[in-house]
Amino acid sequence: MISSEEVRKLFLSFFQTRGHKIIPSSSLIPYDDPSVLLTTAGMQQFKKYFTRQKDPMVDFGSQRVASIQKCFRTTDIDEIGDPTHLTFFEMLGNFSFGPIGKDDPKEFGKDGYFKKSAIYWAYEFISQLGLKIDYVTIFEGEKNIPLDNESYRIWEEIGFSSEKIKRRGREDNFWGPTGEEGPCGPTTEIYVNDVEIWNLVFNEYYQDRDGNLSKLEFSGVDTGMGFERLMKSLQNTETIFETDLFQPTRTILENSIKNYDIRRQRIVMDHLRGSVFLVADGLYPSNLERGYILRRILRRLTVNMYFLGIRVDSLENLLKSVVEKYLPFYSELKNFVKIKEVILNEINNFERVLNSSIKEFNKKFRESDSSETIGEKMFFLYTSHGLPLDIGKEILMSKGRQWDRFAQQRFEDLFKKHQLISKGKNE
Ligand code: SER
Repeated sequence: MISSEEVRKLFLSFFQTRGHKIIPSSSLIPYDDPSVLLTTAGMQQFKKYFTRQKDPMVDFGSQRVASIQKCFRTTDIDEIGDPTHLTFFEMLGNFSFGPIGKDDPKEFGKDGYFKKSAIYWAYEFISQLGLKIDYVTIFEGEKNIPLDNESYRIWEEIGFSSEKIKRRGREDNFWGPTGEEGPCGPTTEIYVNDVEIWNLVFNEYYQDRDGNLSKLEFSGVDTGMGFERLMKSLQNTETIFETDLFQPTRTILENSIKNYDIRRQRIVMDHLRGSVFLVADGLYPSNLERGYILRRILRRLTVNMYFLGIRVDSLENLLKSVVEKYLPFYSELKNFVKIKEVILNEINNFERVLNSSIKEFNKKFRESDSSETIGEKMFFLYTSHGLPLDIGKEILMSKGRQWDRFAQQRFEDLFKKHQLISKGKNE
């Protein structure tokens, strides 16, 4: 079975041979892009090359680059625990910044390339790995943006029949921009085992803050292949969590949990990895923006460990399992002492809140409580014990109770009233 380590090497050498300069992953904290909180895509560190504010020939000696980028997305944070969602993940990507040369996949130079090379190479790489593409999708077009006939023809030339080249709309096959403005364009996407594994974006446009599109000076290529999804297909595992990327952490978890709950185990695996990388990139938990994202996942980690029966003492080994797996590729993980200290400090602080809230919860909550009463009691835990609502809901769920819209309504009403009172006091 092919390992994730081998796939990393194969990917980078495949594109290096084809004239790409290999660029290390940028930090999860974007250093010069105020339009986003965290790095969510491989193209983010290259935005200025697509717009020609920076010259790739000067900085990279090539119009082509490839990378394995650390990404962190918070949009699906509530879905974590299901078989497919992650906060932190890695993306394998190749990029071209124009001007476009011959766009010939047999040409291994340094010129910019476009759809033909990008599609042929993606097909070749996937085939080399021994995977079979079920089908591909292309952009069907809309009023100001034409159908992507060019990609269609290229897939046809490779040998795909028309039923295997599906047309999709803006929702699925038009990507970007990241943040409020930036390069964007139609995509062609590759599906293996019915899962989209590789997204090839043809950056032809720039979208401004008002949503207007203008043509970029040079069209570019931005591809992204989700590493975990790719490894799931290659290692033929049931979900991404059984791939070798999570294996060291999973083994410790399986040996130390008291309550088997697959959802919570996945949350722990995801949040451990995510927090290790965020801290390694210099983030501290706080109540503000990025820091709050870290605080949130560390709190969720604490509560899920609690319900799995994992003691905080095992945390050091769990953190080590992540760091050891990734250190060969990410030298920022070398400061294990600091990573451990930041994470343990936050978790220990929150554990106190959690313990006192659970005690209070057990004292106050009754089986017979109505939804409204649950909303009220949860509000009390929030104001008097500092228990965040999403964590309160986890405690409730562990007792077999649901948080419904009536509970939510009551909580929100009390919250508004409370805000009005505090506002009055401050005036
Ligand atoms: N930027 C695109 C994505 O995130 C392709 O890399 O899917």
